[in-house]
Amino acid sequence: MNAAAPGFLVALESSELGALIRQSAWIYPTANITHVVAIVLFAGAIAVMDVRLMGGMAGSDPARVVRGARRAAVLALIIVLLSGAVLFTAEASHVALNGIFQLKMALIAFGIVHAFFVGNRAVRALDALGPQAPMPAFARFAGALSMLTWLGVVGLGRYIAYN
Ligand code: HEM
Repeated sequence: MNAAAPGFLVALESSELGALIRQSAWIYPTANITHVVAIVLFAGAIAVMDVRLMGGMAGSDPARVVRGARRAAVLALIIVLLSGAVLFTAEASHVALNGIFQLKMALIAFGIVHAFFVGNRAVRALDALGPQAPMPAFARFAGALSMLTWLGVVGLGRYIAYN
């Protein structure tokens, strides 16, 4: 317990739920494995989406590929967020004060906002395009920024353990 953390985080960590997650032999490991497996699914979907936005897999229908990959990414992200919340509850007061964790959360927020506003606009622009059409500069930019953002989140997530 880190008493320097905001009161609601100390309360969350010392709640019955927090204690249950820490004391159970399987809840934390299951949440951790689920987090990592869902990250793999998320990263796969993001890679397909962003590579297509950047002009890769040029023989495929861009709007269909990007929309399909996007749906898969959203589903995987929901699992990542839920499992992350379980991990967080077990050690909220420590993790919340970790600068790398704070950076990870800020980058996740940026990634979601970017996907919502910039990503939506990029996907709509693809509707008029067929296979082999060059990707608009805006779509390439959105794909590259999304890829960089989510790779950064994965790297920061792993780095928390060493910080
Ligand atoms: C796309 C979103 C996310 C990605 C890519 C991500 C990535 C990662 C990675 C790679 C790890 C290291 C896993 C390991 O080595 O066992 C991790 C751990 C963790 N994640 Fe996430 N994460 C995401 C979202 C979240 C969210 C939303 C939360 C909290 C609400 C969260 C909380 C945690 C916690 C508490 C740990 C354990 C940190 C430690 O003590 O080392 N994650 N995450």
